Amino acid sequence: MSDFIQIENSRLCDCHKGYLSCIEARNWMKNQIGVWEFMYEPRDVRDKNIHPAVFPISMAKRVIEQFSHKGELVIDPFVGSGTTLVAAHDLERNAVGFDLKQEYVNLANSRVASEVSNRSKQIAVCTDARDISNYIAPNTVKLSFTSPPYANILNRQRKNKSRRGDLRYNEQFGKIEQYSQDSRDLGTRDADDFENAIYEIYLAMKPIFQDKAHIIINITDAWIDGKRVPLHINIINALKKAGYEFRNTIIWDRRNLVNRIGIFGWPSSYITMGTTFEYILDFTLSTK
Ligand SMILES: C[S@@+](CC[C@H](N)C(=O)[O-])C[C@H]1O[C@@H](n2cnc3c(N)ncnc32)[C@H](O)[C@@H]1O
Repeated sequence: MSDFIQIENSRLCDCHKGYLSCIEARNWMKNQIGVWEFMYEPRDVRDKNIHPAVFPISMAKRVIEQFSHKGELVIDPFVGSGTTLVAAHDLERNAVGFDLKQEYVNLANSRVASEVSNRSKQIAVCTDARDISNYIAPNTVKLSFTSPPYANILNRQRKNKSRRGDLRYNEQFGKIEQYSQDSRDLGTRDADDFENAIYEIYLAMKPIFQDKAHIIINITDAWIDGKRVPLHINIINALKKAGYEFRNTIIWDRRNLVNRIGIFGWPSSYITMGTTFEYILDFTLSTK
């Protein structure tokens, strides 16, 4: 009896063996356009006191639908509030999420427990992402989707510079919204250390993936102490070094989510607002 989590990974569909996913042609066509936009829905966690950096359920659903079949196993190495698990439940994918913080793991498990049960199972586990291969059986995972900490961008007092006028001084102003100060938490790392940690984590995870699995990472670039920090390059470097093939860049167009922005830099220093778009980076792994 192994200590691996007991969870199914066989397809529940009768799609052709060679198909990437169960996706219909019209949604595949929509996804060919490399700029994606999402709305939040009432089940999304929008309270930053509960979790400071949540992506929309609709984003996880679009990625899961594009890259997996019903019944297959999806993982999220940095599951936070459990958004990927909720999306996996909706689409009948089995899923395991990991997070260093017990509070987030409890939240993630409670979110999926409140969904009506179906033919799939979703679980969150409290552990360091470095240890995932101790929990997941080799050669079982079809898709990994996650948003890691964006290095240490949250680990400083919030200045709300992108907000207009008095809106800057909202309840987040001056707060440090970082997940934890645990030294294993990637949110405590500067860009170089972050790249090394991502490399170690994805290298250790390789045995759990099926051939041609997709590994998708949502990340943004940052301005830290007045300098551009291109974290998407750190991610690409780390995964290529770990042996994954970089395949695609999708832009998450967030313009529908940002409003009442302040002006910064005008008229002498041109800066684009980091909050207007993020990256969704697509990698694959050949195991044969
Ligand atoms: C950007 S958040 C993920 C949010 C998630 N996508 C959601 O929608 O709720 C990143 C998460 O990584 C977790 N984390 C940081 N370092 C970790 C590590 N070494 N192992 C596992 N989780 C870690 C943090 O606790 C945080 O919840």
